[in-house]
Amino acid sequence: MLPALLLSISISNAQGKKTKVYELASPEGKNKIQFELVNSAPKYAVSHGKTLVITPSDMGFLLKNNENFSTDFEIVKVENSTFDETWEQVWGEKKKIRNHYNQMVVKLQQKNKEKRQLEIQFRAFDDGIAFRYVYPKQVSKDSIFIMDEKTTFNLKDDGKAWWIPANRVDRDEYLFKDSPVSTLDTVLTPLTIESKSGLALSFHEANLVDFASMTLVNNTGTQLKIDLVPWADGVKVRVKDSFTSSWRTIQIAEKPTDLITSYLILNLNEPNKLANTSYFKPYKYFGIWWGMHIGKYSFWESPKQGATTEHAKQYIDFTAKEGFHNLLIEGWNKGWTPDWYKNKMHMFSFTKSADNFDIEKVVEYGKQKGVELMGYHETGSNLINYLKEIDEGFALYKKLGIHTVKIGHVGSKLNMKEWHFGQFGVNYFRYVLEKAAQYDLAVLYHESIKDTGERRTYPNMISREAARGQEYNAWSEGNPPNHLTIIPFTRLLSGPMDFTPGIFDVEVKQGYPGRRVHGTTAQQLALYVTIYAPIQMMADLPENYEGKPALQFLKDVPTDWETTKVLNGEIGQYITTARKDKNSEDWFLGSITNEKARDLTISLSFLDDKATYEAQIYADADGTDETHNPSAVAISKKTVKASDVLKLHLGGAGGTAIRFKKI
Ligand code: NOJ
Ligand code: CA
Repeated sequence: MLPALLLSISISNAQGKKTKVYELASPEGKNKIQFELVNSAPKYAVSHGKTLVITPSDMGFLLKNNENFSTDFEIVKVENSTFDETWEQVWGEKKKIRNHYNQMVVKLQQKNKEKRQLEIQFRAFDDGIAFRYVYPKQVSKDSIFIMDEKTTFNLKDDGKAWWIPANRVDRDEYLFKDSPVSTLDTVLTPLTIESKSGLALSFHEANLVDFASMTLVNNTGTQLKIDLVPWADGVKVRVKDSFTSSWRTIQIAEKPTDLITSYLILNLNEPNKLANTSYFKPYKYFGIWWGMHIGKYSFWESPKQGATTEHAKQYIDFTAKEGFHNLLIEGWNKGWTPDWYKNKMHMFSFTKSADNFDIEKVVEYGKQKGVELMGYHETGSNLINYLKEIDEGFALYKKLGIHTVKIGHVGSKLNMKEWHFGQFGVNYFRYVLEKAAQYDLAVLYHESIKDTGERRTYPNMISREAARGQEYNAWSEGNPPNHLTIIPFTRLLSGPMDFTPGIFDVEVKQGYPGRRVHGTTAQQLALYVTIYAPIQMMADLPENYEGKPALQFLKDVPTDWETTKVLNGEIGQYITTARKDKNSEDWFLGSITNEKARDLTISLSFLDDKATYEAQIYADADGTDETHNPSAVAISKKTVKASDVLKLHLGGAGGTAIRFKKI
């Protein structure tokens, strides 16, 4: 044990009683956690440097029959340790990640006759703190119901919180809003706060297994309290013998952009458990998809069905011609009706193809052209129906040589009963992920629970939607331009997102009147860098890509990175991200703005200072913005070095994408 690691000090509390305070500092001492029992109740506080972030806050649970499991404790033991390891991501936004923290484990026991034990594990990192509860097997055999979690985060200062609501019909597919912490209702995490103290904070959870997701509720002042997503009967968590909660995390940064390059969530997950991950390599994919969303095609069998053998062949030809290798085909199976999302979900088959779609033939045709299909299961949240057939469905994909499955969960409740985010849903999404691994399938979830870093343990958990994606631009009032400048600081902190970027015809001329993408085509290009995911869709129709010089950027941009740097940004306004390709010496840059046009000056000091690069620049053409000639992309080339400074002009709702090719 390092002497500086754990400090225990005796101080007098308000009643003048001496209590022992245990202090845990992060390796460089940036963040500190203090723990003490106050009148037998566990309390913790957090500070960053001289700034108090969380003032003494509650811990523990309320069990069935109003049993209070948050007080009447004594400390049995306090253990501390330190950990420092650099590990490699199989794929990711950064290859090597350092996991460096100091840990303090506090073992508590209740003094009452139940003598329940509770362990609280604290970790202090230089980019934040985390704690979790472990309820070990008790002396007498025990099943418990958690009725409420008592954990609070008493924020010292108010701040601007970027939030989406929790427990609503459209799950997490909402537009972010910003409000003072003191006015929040119940919100989902990651919850990012620009604190009045000047710090940027993000509250989330890591390694969520067999527990309910946490949401945050404001009941009083600037206090946030954990509100676990309940089962239909109101119970929050059903526990058999023992439980380990997810890590409750607070990422702490001096500026919001630094939250994005914090790997705390991944570090709090277990190392890779899969012996074989070779079946998945990051890629970009086209799809018979946007056509359905804009009303050109139907999901169901009809004269305008999208997923026909004929269309599939055309899409495969296009994919191969443009030098890509992956294709998603939605609506390929039996069970789709125009009313599919209105209680017709029990009709989906996961093994039988639609009459005019021959899956064997299509897969075979793809193989000849070097194009692999992605599997696709829409469950409609009817898991009773899905789980009956899941093994056959996965086995079919394995037999056909398909290695990714997109699984959708449209619906407000799973089985029309349980929230996606409750313990039932958490267990379902983990069960399917583990099962997919048995069939060598990588998983892309839509309408899923939030990401809590599962990809470290299961690198077949490749991406998920879990936010409002591009689809909303096809059939609703759409996503306002600031959405894309908010999500890097909020939703994307939890992990990869299948946003489905790459709409070139942003006015969606073949779509529903008045519906469109609220941004420019150059901005769509930049999204491949500002949004991280190991698979990225090129969501537009083939005819909108054909012959467009900007398609070259999508050919060049990778989806697997050596490293990531966020060069500038303000939440909801703009962001510029640079990433280095994992498999070449090239760097890529994406810069996007909200509705406001912007001029940015970018230092190229991230480039190798001994090299020269050709900057291939895809920018908004002169005068281009969301409503003026939005698809005009000006492509130019420039020789640059690390010592150079680049001036970017982004039109309103615009962007710039750059490839820096080492020459
Ligand atoms: C919603 C998903 O987000 C979208 O990608 C999919 O096409 C539809 N559901 C149908 O499954
Ligand atoms: Ca969706």
